[in-house]
Amino acid sequence: MRVRKAVFPAAGLGTRFLPATKAMPKEMLPLVDKPIIQYGVEEALAAGCDQIIIVTGRGKTAIEDHFDQSYELEQLLEEKGKTELLTIVRQISDMIHVAYVRQKQAMGLGHAVLMARELVGDEPFAVLLADDVISGPVPCLKQRIKAFEATQSSIIATQQVDGPAISAYGVIDGSPVRSGKFNGRLHNIKNLVEKPKWEEAPSNQAIIGRYILTPEIFKALDRTPLGAGGELQLTDGLRLLLKKEKVYGYNFEGVRHDTGDKLGFLKATVEFALQRKDLGSGLRDYLKTLKL
Ligand code: UTP
Repeated sequence: MRVRKAVFPAAGLGTRFLPATKAMPKEMLPLVDKPIIQYGVEEALAAGCDQIIIVTGRGKTAIEDHFDQSYELEQLLEEKGKTELLTIVRQISDMIHVAYVRQKQAMGLGHAVLMARELVGDEPFAVLLADDVISGPVPCLKQRIKAFEATQSSIIATQQVDGPAISAYGVIDGSPVRSGKFNGRLHNIKNLVEKPKWEEAPSNQAIIGRYILTPEIFKALDRTPLGAGGELQLTDGLRLLLKKEKVYGYNFEGVRHDTGDKLGFLKATVEFALQRKDLGSGLRDYLKTLKL
């Protein structure tokens, strides 16, 4: 089966970015001049998904407005002859049809995914957390869709994290699949461990915010009791799914920027700006003048 639908849970409270996120969704924070969620939507489109589902909550209308047409703005830009900006603005609303579903209360990532059940239906789908922005030669989702096509199983994206930093992540307990065409990137998963102590981590493969899931996950989430923080955790649901069917990890090729964290956001902003033709050299010159 093909992965056509991409779900973006975007109903979290974004407390780490308060007060900026008091009235603005975290997913609309810009990396240079593009909201972080747009990077994820572009990744999904580049991977061949043609249906975007965004799970929103209270105070998230800016996301809907962003992907909608803005007649007044387009007219104004047209009148002023700002054709380049007009193209950029039009590209966003022309990009794709986006469907929205509401998570009335932020009851956890697993609960947010469950909200998309009716729109997803009985087919495999991708889940992308907007605050993990990924850059690399091949879109992260595209790499994992290839792995899904070969295995027809759920695929969790992982990255290698060495040393004590692993304690900040969910970690897979598993081993690389040595045969086949994925160069040891594909991992069999036996179990998932949330934020283990460094010495007790079952591997160095940390889970990041990109998943391909079979629809069986909805049944698993239905049966999952509330976990850490009184929330319905996706990891707990995945652990139940593991009892029913195979789940793989995929150590993707590329760089993950954790923009949900303030320092990660600042680093990503600098890196993305340095890569820009219009800003890179000016910013590089400025950074050199800082007495660090
Ligand atoms: P985070 O764990 O980053 O939580 O959620 P958060 O609320 O967005 O941010 P902080 O930690 O308070 O600063 C990971 C992803 O899951 C979504 C978020 O919107 C984010 O994209 N999410 C989380 C939901 O959609 N619903 C929830 O109930 C929780």
